[in-house]
Amino acid sequence: MSQSLTIRRPDDMHLHLRDGAMLEAVLPETARHFGRAIVMPNLVPPVVTGDQAAAYRDRILKALPEGMAFEPMMVLYLTETTDPADVAAAHASGLVKAVKLYPAGATTNSQSGVTNFQNVRHVLERMAEIGLPLCVHGEVTDPAVDIFDREAVFIDRVLDPIRRATPGLRVVMEHITTEEGVAYAGAGDETLGATITTHHLVINRNHILAGGIRPHYYCLPVAKREKHRLALRRAATSGDPRFFLGTDSAPHADHLKEHACGCAGCFTATNTLSILAHVFEEEGALDRLEAFTSLNGARFYRLAPSEDCVNLTKGDTVTYPTKIETGAGPVTVFDPGFALHWRVTP
Ligand code: DOR
Ligand code: ZN
Repeated sequence: MSQSLTIRRPDDMHLHLRDGAMLEAVLPETARHFGRAIVMPNLVPPVVTGDQAAAYRDRILKALPEGMAFEPMMVLYLTETTDPADVAAAHASGLVKAVKLYPAGATTNSQSGVTNFQNVRHVLERMAEIGLPLCVHGEVTDPAVDIFDREAVFIDRVLDPIRRATPGLRVVMEHITTEEGVAYAGAGDETLGATITTHHLVINRNHILAGGIRPHYYCLPVAKREKHRLALRRAATSGDPRFFLGTDSAPHADHLKEHACGCAGCFTATNTLSILAHVFEEEGALDRLEAFTSLNGARFYRLAPSEDCVNLTKGDTVTYPTKIETGAGPVTVFDPGFALHWRVTP
């Protein structure tokens, strides 16, 4: 018996589209299923000013194939020299939907990020006044802190102090990976939200390290123990409006992943919806998939939910390419490790 489900067209509230040849190849993978995405600004050089965000938005729209509809929602990369007036103007014009905080050195292209949080206080205060969300990569960079503890330590050392010092600041904890992250977000008020990726609902740290090292499962924040994956599953499938999808789909050419110092990122744009339907079905929560993919994030960002819909149908095994060819080399599509049966149908 075939099963089907119709949901509002999803929004990806955390996406890496890159630029140039990579952008051209990966954009259709997202635009095929998603109506909008919060587009990460960690290009080289980063998207820091309103003018740079406008130019990047134009490049994205130019790369969109004929006949596809997609709205890129732009994000500014916070630096210690960010001008609050530029941020406010880019927000007021409707161009920019968030500002991204990367602790310097925490992840891919984060070297222009923030080292001394006091130096961005005036920007955060302005953002609190105008209601512009801060998207946070929540990991400390202190080399003395174990990489598996960096998210939990960030909450205590950095995130909670910032939120207490800046009342009203709207914050998205990006790609949470721990039960501590789930607990902190779940205890927050309406100023706090959290994105959860597709891959962190599927893999734990064994997938990366047991029986051989698997670079295509390496991302940041790194996948944690099984109990954390289960906490993320409970949060994502709970219907709680504070939790929403941000895939963090992050393409890197295979030769840069399969490398002595491999890049962090899982590329999930191609099969994310099939995987999520599988996970939500396993959790007995298919009726809450739409909240996670299409309603909760829009609500946090004060957007109307999409008026468009997508259908998901369960049937024979779904086939999808194992790699996407790009002008920068092939990019491996995330392998969930199980057969997928839910497909997006017209
Ligand atoms: O795995 C990741 N990849 N985590 C990030 O924070 C950045 C991203 C990227 O840009 O490749
Ligand atoms: Zn990311």
